Amino acid sequence: MDELIRIGISGNSRIDEGAERILAAAQKGEECYKDSLGWLDPSKWAGEEWVERSIQLARKASAIADTFVVIGIGGSNNSVRALLGAVGRKSGMNVVYAGNTLSSYAYRELIESLEGHDFVIDCIAKNFETLEPGVAFRVLRDLLVKRYGKAGASERIFCTGTPGSYFESLAAKEGYAFIPFPEDIGGRYTALSPVHLVPMAAGGADIRELARGAADMAHILRTSPAKENSALLYALARNRFYDEGYRIEMLSAFEPRLRWFYKWWEQLFAESEGKDGKGLFPVASEFSEELHSLGQFIQDGSPILFETFLDVRDPGASVMIPSDDVDDRFGYLDGLTMEMVNRIAEEATIKAHSKRCPCIRLSISEISEYSIGALFYFFAFSCYLSGRILGVNPFDQPGVEEYKKEMFCSLGK
Ligand code: PA5
Repeated sequence: MDELIRIGISGNSRIDEGAERILAAAQKGEECYKDSLGWLDPSKWAGEEWVERSIQLARKASAIADTFVVIGIGGSNNSVRALLGAVGRKSGMNVVYAGNTLSSYAYRELIESLEGHDFVIDCIAKNFETLEPGVAFRVLRDLLVKRYGKAGASERIFCTGTPGSYFESLAAKEGYAFIPFPEDIGGRYTALSPVHLVPMAAGGADIRELARGAADMAHILRTSPAKENSALLYALARNRFYDEGYRIEMLSAFEPRLRWFYKWWEQLFAESEGKDGKGLFPVASEFSEELHSLGQFIQDGSPILFETFLDVRDPGASVMIPSDDVDDRFGYLDGLTMEMVNRIAEEATIKAHSKRCPCIRLSISEISEYSIGALFYFFAFSCYLSGRILGVNPFDQPGVEEYKKEMFCSLGK
């Protein structure tokens, strides 16, 4: 079993011929999904050439601004937030987000926060029809033009869109920089592509390490046989629990900096599998805080969920819990570090919850660009396998189109 990710699962899943066939087909990439599998070999869109070009584009932005506004929604924003939120900002530009809400309060706050800062915007839009980024593009373009004039604004606008699209011609006409959104990858699978590499690099992340983690994970998952393939074992377990009647998968971790990673994971599985009247509903929970809220339901409520613990072995910091002469009745903490207590809380939670619901444990050594790159790939590949085992197309999202139709109709589009 690979050491990038360790996996432990309640019970055993049967690896039958069907599962072996699905794995073999996914490892090669199926012809019927060729327009959606540009991520399968990370060297295509996150190889050295794109890593270097993304770093250069990020440098271009940081030469003229201190703030990078990512305009995008869903698959056009989640990966950047997931990575930068997890590894923390060591250097680089301040990255802020727009185009993911229609709240005027949020826009007023964003506009106020940009006062006194030089900023660039990157409008990420595969279709360039989605309303939320379209609104943000107008509002922030207007702000740029008022502040820097039309020519100055043009230098501060990046457009990430489909090559050959109307968006590309608009960028050329207005003198905006253009970054290709891979035609062979759908939004939620683009974490390892220039779509996100540019803002990630602008935010100070080491994208070379991210790409290395993804490449190592891709190599492992695309060459490991079924019984040693952690992505297949995870996908089979999810489907086994679904067949047993569970309807919710809860991803839990004891590291709050994975907060935005949860959103990325939720989107990946919800949009990929929730269709044709089937699929697990993915939710995430931040422990230990939510042990004091959702924990009650998990332990004692309707038996509809199973849990996947994302366990981080090295928290990357050590804090001693001090002792003094005040009798606060917490004397049992004397001599312990925060790290030890968090670990004990995690083990105790897994033990308690395992009595009630099936649990999966995915364990990574630490949180870094390398490990997050590996995790992005791990979950994308697992999602492909899991969708195929469930019998759905993991790469489309017909349900999302329904609300758009209603909304565009009301807006008179
Ligand atoms: O994964 C997906 O395909 C979606 O979540 C899209 O990323 C999201 O709807 C944004 O699409 P677009 O970039 O075309 O505005």
